[in-house]
Amino acid sequence: MDLEIVKEGESLPFADVVIEPFFQDQQKSSKLSKAVKEDFKGKLGELLLLYPGPKQPRLLLLGLGVAGEASCEHLRIAFSKATRFCRKKELLTVVATIPHLPTFSVQESTNAVVEGVALTNYLFEQYKKKSSPLIKRLYLVGASPSAQQTLTICQAVLFTRDLVNQNADEVTPSFLGEVAKKLCEESSYLTASILDAEQIKKEKMGLLLAVSRGASTEPKFIVLRYQASKSKDCTVLVGKGVTFDSGGLNIKPASNMEHQRSDMAGAAAILGVMRAICALNLSINVMAVIPATENSIGSKSYKQGDVYTAYDGTTVEIGNTDAEGRLILADALSYVVKNLQPTRIIDLATLTGAVVVALGDEIGGLFSNSDELASSLHQAGESSYERLCRLPLVKQYNCQLLSNRADLKNVGGGGAGAILAALFLENFVKDVPWAHIDIAGTRYVNEERSYRPKGATGFGVRLLVNYLQNRADHS
Ligand code: BES
Ligand code: ZN
Ligand code: ZN
Repeated sequence: MDLEIVKEGESLPFADVVIEPFFQDQQKSSKLSKAVKEDFKGKLGELLLLYPGPKQPRLLLLGLGVAGEASCEHLRIAFSKATRFCRKKELLTVVATIPHLPTFSVQESTNAVVEGVALTNYLFEQYKKKSSPLIKRLYLVGASPSAQQTLTICQAVLFTRDLVNQNADEVTPSFLGEVAKKLCEESSYLTASILDAEQIKKEKMGLLLAVSRGASTEPKFIVLRYQASKSKDCTVLVGKGVTFDSGGLNIKPASNMEHQRSDMAGAAAILGVMRAICALNLSINVMAVIPATENSIGSKSYKQGDVYTAYDGTTVEIGNTDAEGRLILADALSYVVKNLQPTRIIDLATLTGAVVVALGDEIGGLFSNSDELASSLHQAGESSYERLCRLPLVKQYNCQLLSNRADLKNVGGGGAGAILAALFLENFVKDVPWAHIDIAGTRYVNEERSYRPKGATGFGVRLLVNYLQNRADHS
């Protein structure tokens, strides 16, 4: 979708439809006819299509709800509804007026409108013969120039959704490596180095190797470096890249396996973030690290009860081969701590079913050893509306991760599954400020939810770009 800003005083471009937003009861004082005022009250998401006259574009009245209760999320929801309507009616060139809210800046309203439209204007139909219509061009009246940047970020979200929605047999660890390399063409600040199985073996990443053993695809360890600032400050993003999680020898039941191609949603979101910061040219330093592998079953599969050695020398007894995410992340985190001089580390991972039970598909689980980092991420979650809820790292539960045969065991046994996974990871970050975001619930929606169409959501991209933009503004 293209976007164009119509300047004040310029005549409206020719389009299929003009979207005119109204707050509830605000339509009463407008020049709409009495009959229209009867039919359209301006409730949140309410729509009414009008045909003003020959040679004039259609007019789509869009309700924003009660003005006093308005929020950016209401704008996203309303414009998402309008977008779905336009697509259904094949009205594919659209003019929209940015509504002015007393409590929000023009920039905030503009961004919310662009997000509502662009994030809804998505379909994953790569494997279908016929594709459905999408809005081609959006003209914005009264918009702030930030609209283009917001569209760029939304495009990164759609790129992430595509990666997650595609077949696991296509999006292999090597494929993720190729995507990472290709991103480097976008910016001279970005470079990639990708370790193959031989190099992973040489580096002694024993946990990543263990998880990868059952798979016929080769594991990769992807490192992207975006260096656009002279400062020493460097945020390292780590993304779980399990391209399919069968559970391994502790095989998952069929109903739990169906969507496990999305077990690389953390990796995909981090690639999306890198794509966005390249396009936005942010003057910061960011690195992305992705341990990528399949968790498959084969004669070489790693075994429950066996002990394997992590990159930092910690030995780990495998209590369950389905708790593979924390294993590959342990190697990645210790690699980052040892080699990359991180100022802070943020990992994004579809780590536990327990977080889905606790927080569902709206809110991600946030864990951190730093109150400052946790609060900045929480704030970024509120502004992007990719919300987070901080859960505690309960020290008393650490004893569950002790093993008779090794330094650690990869599972506990006493509930609090999302916390135990985070506690396991904490062992590998030493004292570096670190946050872990469990996106097992938010990575995916089984039914369409406003501007999140069914399937991959791209959760994490807008959240982390927002966080990094704030960092860039303050450095
Ligand atoms: N990839 C799964 C977590 C997951 C569950 C992601 C549901 C998306 C939706 C992870 O590797 C896993 O299997 N975790 C296990 C850990 C358990 C064996 C301790 C879980 O949560 O059941
Ligand atoms: Zn698993
Ligand atoms: Zn997994």
